[in-house]
Amino acid sequence: MRFETRAIHEGQKPDPLTGSVIVPVYQTSTFEQNAIGLHKGYEYSRTGNPTRAALEAAVASLESGKHGLAFASGQAATTAVLNLLKSGDHVVAGDDLYGGTWRLFERVYKHWGLETSYVDVDDPAGFEEALQENTRLIWVETPTNPLLKIVDIRKLSEVASRRKILLAVDNTFASPYFQKPLELGADIVVHSTTKYLGGHSDIVGGAVVTSQERTYEAVKYYQNAAGAVPGPWDSWLVLRGIKTLAIRMREHEKNALFLAEFLETHPKVSRVYYPGLSSSRYHLLAKRQMGGFGGMISMELVGGFSAVERFVSKLELFTLAESLGGVESLVCYPPRMTHATIGARERKRRGIRDNLVRLSVGIENKQDLREDLGRALDGI
Ligand SMILES: Cc1ncc(COP(=O)(O)O)c(C=O)c1O
Repeated sequence: MRFETRAIHEGQKPDPLTGSVIVPVYQTSTFEQNAIGLHKGYEYSRTGNPTRAALEAAVASLESGKHGLAFASGQAATTAVLNLLKSGDHVVAGDDLYGGTWRLFERVYKHWGLETSYVDVDDPAGFEEALQENTRLIWVETPTNPLLKIVDIRKLSEVASRRKILLAVDNTFASPYFQKPLELGADIVVHSTTKYLGGHSDIVGGAVVTSQERTYEAVKYYQNAAGAVPGPWDSWLVLRGIKTLAIRMREHEKNALFLAEFLETHPKVSRVYYPGLSSSRYHLLAKRQMGGFGGMISMELVGGFSAVERFVSKLELFTLAESLGGVESLVCYPPRMTHATIGARERKRRGIRDNLVRLSVGIENKQDLREDLGRALDGI
């Protein structure tokens, strides 16, 4: 089956009990046992729930992986992967990444003796140079948040497999429709399903996908032991979102390319970050590695922070809010929102300037979106 068909059918057979065409919301915390230890495959909903199991099978299939595990948030999914490591281990991470992931590395796991080194994602050789005796994991996002840099997954996977360490890729920005890191050699894929997989800004969730039995068993053990699982309703909403992932992603990308080309020529915009632009330094790598360029654009405005303030206040269709990947367009100011946690000095070092704005381009009419951006830019 091809992607669109798998999105609708994988893990989602009609309900064996009633024939319900749609996987039911199994809103139950526990399951009857006919005798001690004799049950129908489910015991307790933290350990396993049929609605969640359908979601896990669907996400695994879309990522070309054997096993999927669903979590209560993207951060819970990341936490589950980091729990494969132990005190004294070392992580090498790309330096452009979601502020909350940096916070987890620096403000939570550091206390437990897990050290992380950050490597400029534009310097693939830097990843190998940063490896230490105790490095167990390479962690990257691609496209990165918020500068939309593209990291060569295949190259990194060669480094990781040579050194027998794990490569985890946060595939949230691309979605499996546009990029399948496991096919490029990654060991683990992580998602914030809050974003494109859910697709409607109505849930918070996460997922881990892998084809390695040992990794799967360890993450699954942690999932049950720590218990940061999504409830049946949230699982069901992600499952419903997934069915339209392909058509949504195509629209997100079409709109994003249209807007990026418009923004690139606008006198109030000093720089546009979008890998779909032929002027982007990542364009060729993105073309090779991805099936499309996604729906996220970042840009720098002429006039600094005061221009950003005026711009966001004049937008009518783009809502000022955290998050991304929903059908509606959002605008975000990373220095004070998604990346506030990393501090001004670190942001400056990573090239996140005070005039940076991030757009999550929705699937509204592209002309309406362009007019909205144009009006707001003209009013700066
Ligand atoms: C790339 C990326 N990964 C992970 C996360 C965390 O996901 P969640 O908010 O679902 O915990 C986010 C959130 O914005 C993100 O942008």
